[in-house]
Amino acid sequence: MTGSGAYWDLIRDRRSTRIFDGRAVPKALLERIVSAATEAPTACNRQLWHFVAITEPALKAKVCRLSDAQQSYFYDAPVVLAVFYDTTLEGHNPCKTPFVSAGMAIYSILLAAEAEGVGAIYLGGIRSPAGVEKALDAPPFLKNLGVVCLGYGLDEPPAPNHRPVEEILTYNGCVGVEKRFHHDIRPHLWRLNQLADFRDKLLWYKGVAIDGKTLHVDPDERASRKFQFMTGRLGMMIQRRSDPPPVVLDMLSFNGDLALQLLLSAEPALGMLYSFDLTPGIGRYIRERFKTLHNFDRWAYLENADASRISIPLADASVDIVSCYERIDQFQDPTPMLREMHRVLKPGGEALVLVSGRFYPHMYRYKRMRQKNYALGRNWNRGPERKYEPKETQDYFRNTGFRVRRMMGLQPVEMKLFSMGEGLCRKLGLYAPGDWLGDQRFRHYRTRAFSKYLSSTMAYEIVKS
Ligand SMILES: Cc1cc2nc3c(=O)[nH]c(=O)nc-3n(C[C@H](O)[C@H](O)[C@H](O)COP(=O)(O)O)c2cc1C
Repeated sequence: MTGSGAYWDLIRDRRSTRIFDGRAVPKALLERIVSAATEAPTACNRQLWHFVAITEPALKAKVCRLSDAQQSYFYDAPVVLAVFYDTTLEGHNPCKTPFVSAGMAIYSILLAAEAEGVGAIYLGGIRSPAGVEKALDAPPFLKNLGVVCLGYGLDEPPAPNHRPVEEILTYNGCVGVEKRFHHDIRPHLWRLNQLADFRDKLLWYKGVAIDGKTLHVDPDERASRKFQFMTGRLGMMIQRRSDPPPVVLDMLSFNGDLALQLLLSAEPALGMLYSFDLTPGIGRYIRERFKTLHNFDRWAYLENADASRISIPLADASVDIVSCYERIDQFQDPTPMLREMHRVLKPGGEALVLVSGRFYPHMYRYKRMRQKNYALGRNWNRGPERKYEPKETQDYFRNTGFRVRRMMGLQPVEMKLFSMGEGLCRKLGLYAPGDWLGDQRFRHYRTRAFSKYLSSTMAYEIVKS
């Protein structure tokens, strides 16, 4: 039930662009795009926006630094358009009209950019809009409301999953409207359908290139040390089982990053790789994403077979290797998921399970959440999440029929100490000890008792016993 015609094509085709090539946007074109904002509605037609186009690299670097943006496209985009609105006049309006007016102008700019063949993304996730104001010497009446990055896009992002209109529209009241996600990260508060919806919708494109550039969009999903550890270890497990080539199952695959890495590095050695997740939308998304890269014929998506519980649509004892990358963390009780993993594994089959530990540095996050009922913790993109004590994780494994073959600590606390020591040595000009400390920092997983327990993530290799 969607419309057709140029307008509908435009709004359907627009995607946020997160990878830019270096080409500059001509001034006349930029001005045409910004002129779209002047057509947007504003409260009482006041038109109190102001835009600053930042094109000078040195100034852009200053704005990035002071705004604590931490998003690569901010740095890479040839034009960063800072959005300001004079909020003083309507500051007390209960409908927050300054923000609505600015939002309308921003969308107008995004659509105009799409129409002009220019890639764009609005960033509201900068940590300090006050930093943008400071860097640009904004007068006190102008409030920064984020930035629009503009440039020529290098990527073809798949569309994220959109809610159908029946889900967002009711007539003459809010009958049947339910809270979609929980505002609290503690998993016992989340129903499975809320988790499924969260995973389905938070699955937006974060760049295909795993090259360090897009890294900080979601460091835990991309080329982080943990991710490298996971793919390397799984690669070894796959290579060890060559006859017949192993069947691998990736639990709660999300955007398919891990599956993609395994396919790119080990497809010939694979019997089959299954990505399992909770909704059909996630399957559509990964399929579309992979389509632009390669035709992987040893890959398939599996959708949860029962909306009320975790149910993998695979026969008993049909899988050799399961990968589970910080996924049991999303459940208060991981038993149903571990049972399913156990059921589908062949006897002697193995699983690599990463679990966030309760230890450092997340204490801060929990403390803050308890104090302020802070929504979704520090990283809103992760959804419900709990931390496990090593002993309790091992009990869960044992109770569901697994034997722990190896346990390793990732991101151990001494890594932080080594890196602080390295910094100090360099400051003092002690380069040789600084290099030694630096090298220690790159040995990023530990098996000794002291450091493996004082790590923020635990990696378990478990075997079906
Ligand atoms: C208010 C707002 C704030 C946003 N902030 C960010 C951001 O900080 N970083 C980012 O990568 N994307 C940001 N986006 C872009 C959204 O992630 C994106 O619009 C959404 O995932 C849908 O994808 P699409 O724009 O390609 O349709 C923001 C969008 C809006 C409307």
